[in-house]
Amino acid sequence: MLARITRLSLAARLLRCSLVALGVSHAAPVFAESELTGSALALHMGCYNCHGTPARRDAPTFERLAAHYEKLRGQAGAAAREGEELRRGEPFRRIVAHEQLSADTATKLMQWIIDGAKPAGSGG
Ligand code: HEC
Repeated sequence: MLARITRLSLAARLLRCSLVALGVSHAAPVFAESELTGSALALHMGCYNCHGTPARRDAPTFERLAAHYEKLRGQAGAAAREGEELRRGEPFRRIVAHEQLSADTATKLMQWIIDGAKPAGSGG
């Protein structure tokens, strides 16, 4: 009986563990991205594929984006707002990498850009 209870509680614990794991992956396309910030997050999300230097085709470099968004620095809610715009995209110009971002990741990336889009190890 005791052994059975122990086994049951072990099963319950295992179940709880897997539920936690499910909870993590539930917030759609989240991999390790919830742990990452700044340029590491941008790298992880593939942003540098187009916005690196040199940029791909007509994508602006992160330097140019940072210069463009600099005016929003320190503005409350700016990153979330711009993140939403990025996700929404434009009707005639679909960029999947933008649209598939979660709200949270888009906000974090926009905050990083607004703050200067500094590469890792330069204090950003
Ligand atoms: C497949 C190439 C590609 C990838 C990958 C990509 N972008 Fe872009 N991005 C573009 C292009 C092209 C533009 C310019 C859009 C325009 O001029 O209408 C742009 C524009 C932007 C802008 C300016 C807002 C706008 O709509 O013009 C921001 C901010 C931005 N990208 C952030 C990101 C972030 C953050 C990532 C990583 C999640 C990312 N991009 C990944 C191609 C890409």
